[in-house]
Order: sequence, then C-alpha cells, then structure tokens
Amino acid sequence: TENHLRHMESLATLPSGARKIPQLNAMILGEAMASEENDLVYPSEEFSLQAHVPRPAKYLEMYKRSVEDPAGFWSDIASEFYWEQKWGQQVYSENLDVRKGTVNIEWFKGGITNICYNCLDRNVESGNGDKVALYWEGNDPGFDGSLTYKQLLAQVCQLANYLKDVGVKKGDAVVIYLPMLMELPIAMLACARIGAVHSVVFAGFSAESLAQRIMDCKPKVVLTSNAVRRGAKVIGLKDIVDAALLESAKNGASVDICLTYENKSAMTRESTNWKERRDIWWQDVVPKYPATCDVEWVDAEDPLFLLYTSGSTGKPKGVLHTTGGYMVYTGTTFKYAFDYKPSDVYWCTADCGWITGHSYVTYGPLLNGATCLAPTYPAAGRCWEIVDKYKVTIFYTAPTLVRSLMRAGDEYVTRYSRKSLRVLGSVGEPINPSAWRWFFNVVGESRCPISDTWWQTETGGFMITPLPGAWPQKPGSATYPFFGVQPVIVDEKGNEIEGECSGYLCIKHSWPSAFRTLYGDHERYETTYFKPFPGYYFTGDGCSRDNDGYYWLTGRVDDVINVSGHRIGTAEVESALVSHPQCAEAAVVGVEHEVKGQGIYVFVTLVEGVPCTEELRKSLIQTVRSQIGAFAAPDKIHWAPGLPKTRSGKIMRRILRKIASRQLGELGDTSTLADPSVVDQLIALADV
Ligand code: WTA
Repeated sequence: TENHLRHMESLATLPSGARKIPQLNAMILGEAMASEENDLVYPSEEFSLQAHVPRPAKYLEMYKRSVEDPAGFWSDIASEFYWEQKWGQQVYSENLDVRKGTVNIEWFKGGITNICYNCLDRNVESGNGDKVALYWEGNDPGFDGSLTYKQLLAQVCQLANYLKDVGVKKGDAVVIYLPMLMELPIAMLACARIGAVHSVVFAGFSAESLAQRIMDCKPKVVLTSNAVRRGAKVIGLKDIVDAALLESAKNGASVDICLTYENKSAMTRESTNWKERRDIWWQDVVPKYPATCDVEWVDAEDPLFLLYTSGSTGKPKGVLHTTGGYMVYTGTTFKYAFDYKPSDVYWCTADCGWITGHSYVTYGPLLNGATCLAPTYPAAGRCWEIVDKYKVTIFYTAPTLVRSLMRAGDEYVTRYSRKSLRVLGSVGEPINPSAWRWFFNVVGESRCPISDTWWQTETGGFMITPLPGAWPQKPGSATYPFFGVQPVIVDEKGNEIEGECSGYLCIKHSWPSAFRTLYGDHERYETTYFKPFPGYYFTGDGCSRDNDGYYWLTGRVDDVINVSGHRIGTAEVESALVSHPQCAEAAVVGVEHEVKGQGIYVFVTLVEGVPCTEELRKSLIQTVRSQIGAFAAPDKIHWAPGLPKTRSGKIMRRILRKIASRQLGELGDTSTLADPSVVDQLIALADV
C-alpha cells in the first residue's frame, strides 16, 4: 500500500493530457504495437474534467481513506442506499487468517435492507419511474422491447407474489435456468424481494450440470423457459430441465414446481413436453397476481444468491454472496469504474448466468437507476448497429468478442457512427495489448477510456480497475485497485513482495462484496482460498506489478482454464471424458487460442485395444458437451498411449502444456518420469 501510494503520487504530478497516442489505423496495429505495451495512454482533458474522479490526486485521497478507515469510508457510502434500519456498532468484522480460527467476513451486520427495493422502489419513488430500466433486443432485428422502472417493478412484484403463494419463503433456494430474456433479471429481483436465494444456472449448461446444482441447493421451484433461439438454432431448454429434474429426483432432490416461460418465437406450447401439476406456464399464472408486493426486509448478512463456479478440483463450488455489502459494493464500483452518469445508456454483453450478469447487468446498474440494454443473443456483427440504435454510451464486453470483431475487419465497425460511446469496458481474461489498441482506436476512436476490470465470481465486484479519466492507462493493464482493495503479490512461500515484481495475487483484508462461504462447505472455502497463503485471500491468478505500480494480470496459476472468459475446471472436463466407456484416462490443459483466449486441449488414453478413430473423437467431444455444456467442448484431442507421470503417479501437466503448445524444445527435465519414453510417443502423435 505504501509503495502503491508513492507510485500514484509520482503519477499525480503528471499534467493531464500532456501526451496523447497518435491516431492509428488498424493497418499498423497488431503485433508491432505490442512492444509498446508500457505506453501511457492519457485520457483527454475534456473527459477527465467531467469524471467522478478527475485526477490521480483525487483517487489517492479517496483510496487512502478507504484503506486507513474502511469503516468510515464504507459507512459514508452505504448511507447513500436505503436501509430500513441502520447496521450495528461495528461496520465490519473479519478474520482472513486460518491460523487465528474460522475465516469469517461480515459487513453492515444488523443493517436491515432489501436490494430489490434499492434497485426499483427507490428509483420509482425518486421520480425515475418512467425512465427505461431495461431495453431488450431479440435475436432478429425488429424484435425488441423495453421496461421502465415502474413497469419492471410491477412485473417483479407479480412474480414475487406468485412465488410467495406457492410457498417460497425467506432463505429458500430458487434455481433459475433462463436465457437472456427480461424474465431473467425479473426472476432474480423477485427472489431478492422476498428474501429467497436465487441460483442462476447459465442456460448453456447441460442437464447433468443443472442436476448437480439442483441436488446441491435443493430448490422447491425452478424457473425456466421452454426454448431459446440462438441464431438459426432452437434449443429446447425445457427438455434439458426435464432430464435434470428426473436425475435430481432420483437423488432425493425433488422440485415441486417448474414455472416455464413460453418463448413463442422459439417453440410452441404444443411441442413442449409437459408434466401436469409440476409444470406451470408462467404466462398463465403470473399476470394474475397483484402488481405490488411488500418487501421482505433482510439482514445485510442474509444470503442473496448462490452462483456455482469451477474450481481446480472436484465439483463446482456454490459461491455465496450476502445482501448488504454486495449491494453497496456493486452499486459503487459500477458508478466509479464506468464513470456512470444518469444520462448514460449502458450495455453489458454478459449473460446473467455468470457473475458479470449478476453484478453488472442486474444489480450494479439498477442500483444506480441506469438504463441498461440486455440483448438475447446478438450476432457479433450487430453490435454497432445496436450501439447506434440505442445510443449506447458505455459498452462493456469480453476480450474474446473484441478479438473476433477485430478479425472480421474494421469496415464492420466504421460503417456505423458509434459517436454516442464514451466509455468501453473489458472483463473475463487479460486483454492483449493489440486487442486493447484496436478496441481503443477503432471502436472508441481514441476518445473512450477502457475499463479493464479484474475481478471474480468470488469477489462479487471489481477489484482492480481503471477509473476512467483519473489516470493514464497502459494497454493490457487493469491499472490500480478499487477503493478499499489491498492487493498483494506474494512469492511461493507466501511472503509479500514489494515494488516491481511478479508472483501470486492475493488480497489482504476483506471488502464489502467478498463471498462469505461455499454453500454447505465452509471447510473447502478455507482450504481453497485462505490456506494456500495464510493471512490472505488467494485469487488463483498470477500477476505482476510494474515500476509505476500498475497491475498486470497474467492468468490462472491453478488448473482452471479460461475459455472465452468462461471458467472451466480441467478436473470437470477430465471426469466427463473418463465417464466415456472407451476412455481409460484423460488430462486436460489450456492452450493459447487466437479468439477464445484459451482453448481446451485434451490428452486421451483409450481402453486397451480400442482404436483411435474419427468417430470416437467426435463421441468424446459429445460426451463433454452433454455432461457440461457446449462451451466446454474440447478444441483438440491428442491420442496418448500413456501420460507423463512421476514415479508416485502424478501427471506432469507442465510437460503436457509444452507439448500442447508445441514448445518441444522447452520440455525441461523429463528424467524424473516413471517412463520418459511416453514423451516421445506423444510428440510422434501430435498431429494425428
Ligand atoms: C480472469 C469473471 C485478467 C481471472 C468476472 C479471474 C481476468 C477469472 C479479468 C475470474 C481481467 C477476469 N484481466 N483476467 N480484467 N477479469 N479475469 O469468476 O483469471 O468467471 O480469476 O469472473 O477470470 O472468472 P469469473
């Protein structure tokens, strides 16, 4: 912290607008620019002057207070939200040190509030009821719609009343398996309104993955839709849910009600499979309920939602977030990291099935009374048409989308005006400097700062992020920590390293939206996140810090791979593969992929005597698709007569990663392998 403050102070003396990067056209971008990754890109003076945080000195002043007096800093900010009753004496309490006992984090305990009330009622009451809360844009041009704050509140209340009527109570889990229709944020908010704990499962997950989550959190009610269209394809979501419910019922988790939204543009009622009594059409019941519904006031530490995410081992983990701290933190980070103003139109391309859709499609923006755009499944090529149609001012997306648009060519961008844009954002994986520059120069015409936000499902909100206008950016760096966040870089032994360095990224002290536990498994919470480096929260990411104190995230250091910004556990993919009757063993590694960031590369050892055929390759890929979801489908299957193992039987992934990326000259020491000849066999089969 000391060091960081010193670095920022030296930056604080740089005159804003002193240097600007020249306008470049896409022709000379690309790798030639990557060498200039230490370039400072200054915001324009015009932008800085109107920003919430106009200069480094202002950030420094606020940051300093946030770490020296977290209680004072955060209680001032929390007071801007509505509390039915203020929190108790202690603003927060924490123990992040496993050596001192159970890990425990609490913020605003004793404070009574409701996040749905803060998102909707508060905005309606303050005179913004007729402002558009959500714009919705369908699969095809011409299918669109919008809801004002008043209308959204009415719809949320109707669903909340229905849920109460069928017996959902405070603390009960509700699983939501919906595509990006307005009904998805409506469902989340309705749960929050009555104190139910939502668990959204991304509608690209398979029946097995859905069943696994249902069996873990045992909801009474599942909310879904009969189908969704993705491009020309129709996906029968209800069939997936049916299969999941069958599976979970067999394992003692039976669901009473499956409320199904009829998505007419994808599938008719007649062709939807139906189980009488359990299955109910949303449109038949919900509109009959009153459009007002009393709020269930909850404690700041009452759970708000569960969201399952992949880890390096075992089954997915149910990350649990509570109400008060999450509300204060997501609302505040949204405001500062995007320099949000009431006149903005904000578009985040994430699906509510992931954390980004929770914190920065639903809660963060609505807490600020923002107008949000949530398209169902726009083809990438329609991006800029949509930006112009809605006059989008803040556009938040993932590097994988930036790279695929970049490949398509500038003309797809420049044929649209995009003049409404003023802030761009990136999330999900490190953005490579060449993609950063293209995004900045071509999409934003060198006028829009890019908020490269680093954070995680576990952190609930942005942790390291630029504050647009506050300081110069470096393409590819997430810059500085948000208020109250104290990142540290540690070495293998867990010692903090100062100044310019590389190592493991940890966080010292809690922040309001930190996850509180893994549902039903506090021990795993401690083991995974707090035991590796005692005293700190371990992020699982590698990171370096440069001479100016800028942070550069370098990717996961555990066995998690990041495919198009989606976290996938190698262990999950391996366990899907070995369930295939002809697969004896599998090892999965991530490998660089031009568009997706990382691709999934698998080494498969077949059962003795089974020949490697194209058909088998397809069938293995299909197994992963049906057990996890299409987004986890392997990119490459490498036949492996044997895997490189130590004498104690541990697979040496380091060697597999090198083989996968064809860095054959860098295999390192293979003499400790039980059978060094497997390496040559693998190399020989690399392109089979
Ligand atoms: C990666 C998504 C670099 C990182 C919000 C992290 C990033 C994981 C960035 C969390 C970024 C996310 N720069 N890496 N701006 N944002 N990551 O839980 O490896 O789906 O640990 O949360 O994504 O993924 P998750």
